[in-house]
Amino acid sequence: MRNSIIASACLLSFIVLFNQCKSSLESQGSTQTTGTANKKGLKDYYRNYFSIGVAVTPRLRGEEAALVLQHFNSLTAENAMKMGPIHPQENRYFWNDADSIVDFAQRHGLKMRGHTLTWHTQTPGWLFKDSASNTNVSKEVLLKRLKDHITTVVNRYKGKVYAWDVVNEVIADDSATYFRKSPWYQITGEDFVAKAFEYAHEADPKAILFYNDYNTENPVKREKIYRMLKKMLDAKVPVHGVGLQGHWSVNNPTREELENSIKMFASLGLQVQITELDVSVYGGRQGGQIIQGQAQREAAVFTPEMEQKQLEKYKMIFEVFRKYKKEITGVTFWNISDRYSWLDGRGRKNFPLLFDQTLKPKKAYWEVVNF
Ligand code: XIL
Repeated sequence: MRNSIIASACLLSFIVLFNQCKSSLESQGSTQTTGTANKKGLKDYYRNYFSIGVAVTPRLRGEEAALVLQHFNSLTAENAMKMGPIHPQENRYFWNDADSIVDFAQRHGLKMRGHTLTWHTQTPGWLFKDSASNTNVSKEVLLKRLKDHITTVVNRYKGKVYAWDVVNEVIADDSATYFRKSPWYQITGEDFVAKAFEYAHEADPKAILFYNDYNTENPVKREKIYRMLKKMLDAKVPVHGVGLQGHWSVNNPTREELENSIKMFASLGLQVQITELDVSVYGGRQGGQIIQGQAQREAAVFTPEMEQKQLEKYKMIFEVFRKYKKEITGVTFWNISDRYSWLDGRGRKNFPLLFDQTLKPKKAYWEVVNF
């Protein structure tokens, strides 16, 4: 009897010790496994630098929600706050999706970026047209619609969304054109840009207001964006920051191009955020949109060569981000993991993020946190 009590006690202590050992090993290995919110994640490594965000879809749950909580302290709605989804008809707003993301951020103490109030894509059908005549509305009507939209959306999330991408992608890519020839531009000229910032500021004077664009490292486009921002700042338009989308690839940008962009925009007194970061494994200088539309010829395999080039690019860009930590106030990834990326268009997988399809950190992750 006595022996069997001693044997049970021994066994019990062994189990307790084993479990203690195991959990301490797990917490040291932290991000080796996908897991719970108390393990060290990207946001912890970057605590003294800038917030680390991620673009998400509504109703986050399960292991993806756990990964988000472990690594990120800021959210952006991938689509839910865009004008088409949130304001499908002139007199009807659809709040459910955006609300569910904002609620998640609130419940877990994450920051929330608002994206985006004015864009030429994902606009609702009613926006530019007079419903009776089916012709374009006048400048006055369009600006009134813009004001109503911005006022309503910004008001709803006042105090919950700390920063807004007020205007998205209005500068043209080709060197001969200044503003993109969107319906916004065709109807109002360039005035809608400054107006959008004024309306947003009026609705929430505390929100930090961003101009957001891609290909911001291309010297010609960068110059045009700079010119537009400078003109607005000189006219006292409430612009506070510039968002470099960061839809990059294994081939671009170079360190020098990236540093030049950050320095140039910061010289205007604006804060800089990287708002939509991903590093496509397919090369070429292009905005994410152009990648998405390309013919899909490449095989969907994440080759060792892609892995190597991608980790080098991630290492370099985060070195630059850390160097400019005074200027950079946030870095947001566009999607959570390689399980789903908006770049997976037309059947070709891309592998542009730091977590793989099983949500495990990739080699590039360790380059980013190793400093
Ligand atoms: C993308 C979304 O990720 C896709 O789901 C959607 O089909 C198209 O828009 N620049 C932006 C983002 O500012 O809003 C875009 O998001 C990616 C390019």
